[in-house]
Amino acid sequence: MKPIKGKGFTLRYYQKGDEASLQKHINNNKIYRYTCQIPYPYTLKTAKQWVKDNVINNKKRNKEKVNFVIDINGKVVGGVGLFDVRPHKAEIGYWLGEKYWGQGIIPEAVKLVVDYGFSKMKLSRIYASTMKPNKQSQKVLLKVGFRKEGVMKKYYLKDGKIGDGYLFAKVK
Ligand SMILES: CC(C)(COP(=O)(O)OP(=O)(O)OC[C@H]1O[C@@H](n2cnc3c(N)ncnc32)[C@H](O)[C@@H]1OP(=O)(O)O)[C@@H](O)C(=O)NCCC(=O)NCCS
Repeated sequence: MKPIKGKGFTLRYYQKGDEASLQKHINNNKIYRYTCQIPYPYTLKTAKQWVKDNVINNKKRNKEKVNFVIDINGKVVGGVGLFDVRPHKAEIGYWLGEKYWGQGIIPEAVKLVVDYGFSKMKLSRIYASTMKPNKQSQKVLLKVGFRKEGVMKKYYLKDGKIGDGYLFAKVK
């Protein structure tokens, strides 16, 4: 995959050497609280395993996930991923280092990944789920043309608590 240029950042695959900057930017309770797959604290050991798994996955012909790094000056400052990839649909997820919030980086990165999913991967539907209190993420999805499809009652289990979520989707 050729890197995709955004304004002030590049989207690319994970590569060896990404471990330290990944751990630095993702290790944040404000990222952990609204995501289900990202641990906190996020150790260097976790970062090493994540990068290793992605490097292996990227070599596969049929990928079950496609994870892009948001790269600024060679460092991982965020990520956008397509997962649960099926022939016609995939779920999208994303995070960004807090230092970079509020600059429109994720809206642009999500837009680029959605375009990639529709054109290169021939997907027809890309969907996202957000926890009900995660207004920042819901704003991002609406900004890039996702539609809110509904409430998912008791969808999340986070720190032992069950909570509602919203389902958003964009179709081609
Ligand atoms: C959600 C997230 C990816 C947004 O990325 P972003 O590039 O900052 O997106 P935007 O620049 O469009 O900002 C989105 C909203 O965040 C809010 N925001 C901006 N800076 C903020 C800050 N420093 N602190 C709190 N909220 C902030 C604003 O309300 C903004 O909306 P607005 O532009 O209409 O005012 C980022 O906040 C994040 O990584 N959050 C934690 C992980 C997460 O929630 N992932 C998604 C799971 S569904």
